[in-house]
Amino acid sequence: MERKNVLIPQADLDRQREFEEKIRAMFASREAHPVACVDTFGCQQNVADGQKLMGMLADCGFTFTQDPKEADLVILNTCAIREHAEDRVFGNLGALTHTKKENPEQVIALCGCMAQEPRVSERIRKSYPHVDLVFGPQALWKFPELLWQVYETHKRVFSVQDEHGTIAEGIPVVREKGVKAWVSIMYGCNNFCSYCIVPYVRGRERSRDPQCVLEEVRQLVEAGYKDITLLGQNVNSYGNDLDLDYHFPDLLADIDKIPGEYLIRFMSSHPKDATKRLFDVMAASPHVAKQLHLPFQSGNDRVLKEMNRRYTRQQYLDLVNYAKSVMPGLVLTSDVIIGFPGETEAEAMDTVSLVEEVGFDALFTFIYSPRPGTKAAEMPDPATRAEKQTWFDKLLEVQNHMSAKLHAAYVGKTVRVLVDGESDDPEFPLTSRTEGNRLVRLKGDKALIGQFIDVTVTGSNTWALYGEAV
Ligand code: 5AD
Ligand code: SF4
Repeated sequence: MERKNVLIPQADLDRQREFEEKIRAMFASREAHPVACVDTFGCQQNVADGQKLMGMLADCGFTFTQDPKEADLVILNTCAIREHAEDRVFGNLGALTHTKKENPEQVIALCGCMAQEPRVSERIRKSYPHVDLVFGPQALWKFPELLWQVYETHKRVFSVQDEHGTIAEGIPVVREKGVKAWVSIMYGCNNFCSYCIVPYVRGRERSRDPQCVLEEVRQLVEAGYKDITLLGQNVNSYGNDLDLDYHFPDLLADIDKIPGEYLIRFMSSHPKDATKRLFDVMAASPHVAKQLHLPFQSGNDRVLKEMNRRYTRQQYLDLVNYAKSVMPGLVLTSDVIIGFPGETEAEAMDTVSLVEEVGFDALFTFIYSPRPGTKAAEMPDPATRAEKQTWFDKLLEVQNHMSAKLHAAYVGKTVRVLVDGESDDPEFPLTSRTEGNRLVRLKGDKALIGQFIDVTVTGSNTWALYGEAV
């Protein structure tokens, strides 16, 4: 793939700012104050995309609401990873027929991964006539132009061409207030794990220029963000498309040199591309949190092969053991799928035994959901839902026990945390995170929000630690 075809030219990006101006002028001439509701589903990549949508909308003169009934524009920023996620979006879309009936001028848009699936866009075209605008992740950068088309033509607009994907620098962003920020360092995925829809909807892997990433992180640190997460479907292949001989560990090491009081996290990592060098750089970089989200998906070699994961159980274990050896106290989390087509009970129990062997702090566990268009969706899947549920429950039981045990070991210790917000628990009104991203509920004053402080851990359960400022 030629890099020059990947970067959106500056002139094309500048044109989008002109469309934002046109929309702003249109509302100003009507003395209207437009309000948008951006509803984001799914992963952090989508959250980051949602913040760009809000950035572009703010430039168009919009303010924001959480309530679709109050909104002149409703955007559903969707996720396609499992059927359940899609069902929720169709449910929400159905409900929007009522808001539109009350406010016929309301514009309804659907974007994100679902929008890029031909099956979905066809269904919207046929059965959801109240949806005005549909565009996939590849078209995000030209959202102002698409929105302008809707206002100007009063026709439905679909921008869902199947593209390899692009990189657009300099899109305005509305960040969450507080201490956390997300930085996409790359887009797309080349791995085609056989169960996964992502490569089909987010296009091929493409890495942002290292200088652009470094500059963005520098600005975030200067603006006071203290917990910054680098995002990509597989950050470990960062740079492979760049021709610079510059890879993810190089990027981490360079970010670490940016002065300031902050932590850097990253997700997700594919075990096939995680190297010892990555862990050595993590260990040697004070700003890099000693936390690793390393999805293993299955503990059985036959299933891993069918999933097209390209590592074995033993290779995964070796990797994790090395990471733990250079980073004592490393906090490890992972993603797991139970009930992949053809998986037997014994194979599922291999996954459970791997969980016991590694001792993850937390797991994101999923029952396999067939995604039309992927290879696994064509495979015979004889196990019943009830059987899969039993295996899943077993996995949860083992993991909950492990999380509770690991958390209990903290009681009585002093840990450093970043206080990141308020909670609705009157006894522990603050929330905070350890370097490893463990949740600590805290007694203390709101004035501590945004600070790194030492706390004594006074209690724990499966999901959280409890503590007081020292
Ligand atoms: N069914 C269930 N879980 C899935 N994931 C991805 N695709 C599917 C699917 N078809 C899970 C994987 C991945 C996480 C983001 O979602 O565990 O790591
Ligand atoms: Fe999906 Fe695999 Fe790519 Fe992750 S690495 S996004 S699971 S195809």
